[in-house]
Amino acid sequence: MNFSSDEKRINDTFAEINLGELKKNYNIIKKRAGKRNKNGVKICSIVKANAYGHGMNEIAKALAGYGTEYLGTADYSESMILRKYLNNFSLNIPILCLGLLTENRKFFNDIAEGNIDVTIADYKIALYLNNFAKSRNKKINIQLQIDSGINRIGFGFKDGYEAIKKLTGLENLKIKGIYSHYATSEKPRNSYALRQLNDFKSFVREVENNLVKIELKHISNSGGILNYNDPFFNMARPGISLYGYYPDRKKSTEDIGLTPVMTFKSKVSFIKDLDKNQSISYGRKYFTKRRTKIASIPAGYGDGYPRLLTNKSKVQINGKFYNTVGTVCMDWIMADIGNNSGVNINDEVILFGKDYPADRLSDITGTIPYEITCNISSRVQRVYVSR
Ligand SMILES: Cc1ncc(COP(=O)(O)O)c(C=O)c1O
Repeated sequence: MNFSSDEKRINDTFAEINLGELKKNYNIIKKRAGKRNKNGVKICSIVKANAYGHGMNEIAKALAGYGTEYLGTADYSESMILRKYLNNFSLNIPILCLGLLTENRKFFNDIAEGNIDVTIADYKIALYLNNFAKSRNKKINIQLQIDSGINRIGFGFKDGYEAIKKLTGLENLKIKGIYSHYATSEKPRNSYALRQLNDFKSFVREVENNLVKIELKHISNSGGILNYNDPFFNMARPGISLYGYYPDRKKSTEDIGLTPVMTFKSKVSFIKDLDKNQSISYGRKYFTKRRTKIASIPAGYGDGYPRLLTNKSKVQINGKFYNTVGTVCMDWIMADIGNNSGVNINDEVILFGKDYPADRLSDITGTIPYEITCNISSRVQRVYVSR
């Protein structure tokens, strides 16, 4: 057996990641985010959670190539992995870590060396960081997170204002940005989102008038870019839209032409002839309605295909849709292909993608497309294509 060529073989079940679609989505979002701002809007592309399952390193490198000004991560472990990877290509693009730094100094050194902007939501942490930066004769960029209503993390307006007063005195920290995050931006014309937007804007104006000018001001995620574009802000933080999905397909009114980047693919592994009234899979949750053929496909909840899709989803084989039947197993799903489909062993199966997007699956399971793509598990190979 030739092991080296075997190693390069693509597994039967894999996620095809189309960088051509990523680029298209990025350009649509960049244009859309800057629509009302004559100086344009910088993009902080969110690549946390393994780029929503698409593979953080490859996606970040591609986005850097398309011109994203920042990359957004969830924590410092992700940030360091990403920095190390990008260093291999001499890509010194700044990373904004959206997660919180703790008193644990584990990451301080890497932050100081790594062009990583630190989210600050606590003055004490800023003080530690400043002291560290001073001891190394470094200046570290920080971005202040202000909680305008999601009630998750961030300074409130009052304590934020007082903290900024003190932060301006910390010489080894540069207040590079200030940002907030919406709770309901996926809904257009939503009064809570409008309140967040206006309150945050007033707050930043007050800070800039009385305390310090701040280079980067941002609040929009994908929903914000689609529904609450405001020229006051000069950066935006899209995530899901880059990967081709709307934050809420049912409520967002406008289709701006995004295309799913991930196609989850597998192959027909086995075809079985069954008589009428034969049960399929664990728990006998499905019985054949007639004599038929059942195709077994080597993908299951172990790959991130939700078990809640049992008897509810479709798969696409040779351009035609077939119902999945029987309980989704850890490693297998089955589809009823009927008697005259012409489907053969090794035919490609599409579990979701352009023609059957992940938001169809998330509608069935009562979740959001974010969760479907994020949950594609680590055993699923990511295969990058550009077309
Ligand atoms: C702080 C922050 N900004 C931006 C985003 C990107 O949001 P979306 O994927 O809805 O565009 C997220 C995602 O959870 C986030 O937590």
